[in-house]
Amino acid sequence: MTRLALGSSIFVILCGLGVATVAGTPPANTPSMPAPNLPKDPGQVAPVAPPVAPSADPNACVHTAFKTQLVQQACAKGGQPEAKAAMKAFMKDKKIKSCNVCHSKLAPKYDLKPDGLDQFTKAGGK
Ligand code: HEC
Repeated sequence: MTRLALGSSIFVILCGLGVATVAGTPPANTPSMPAPNLPKDPGQVAPVAPPVAPSADPNACVHTAFKTQLVQQACAKGGQPEAKAAMKAFMKDKKIKSCNVCHSKLAPKYDLKPDGLDQFTKAGGK
């Protein structure tokens, strides 16, 4: 019995030590480590994240500033595939025969002709 008791009390002491060192470590570091870092981190991460997100999307539109609601909304919704679909629907609606009426180049950049936007608005696009 005494042996058992001794054994278990040593066990308890060892466990207590183990817990004490484990529990003792984080509180010692926690206030000193993250405290000086925390105010910096949100400031450093926030400006970096938004510019990375759109360019990381393989479907993202090339334009980032839009002159038309149609394309802006389509790009926001589904990137270039959605913009293409919107343009096709627009052309069909306005009976325009070719993308090249307004675009000097198509995929991947969809360069506009100098009067591309003009033609778009004249055709009734917004
Ligand atoms: C009537 C003129 C017109 C025609 C025809 C036209 N587009 Fe466009 N397209 C535009 C204009 C103007 C923009 C730019 C919109 C803006 O800046 O808000 C644009 C933008 C786009 C974009 C977005 C590009 C990007 O990544 O930012 C895609 C994709 C596109 N057009 C595809 C097409 C396709 C495909 C066709 C043929 C099916 C087509 N367009 C026909 C006028 C036209």
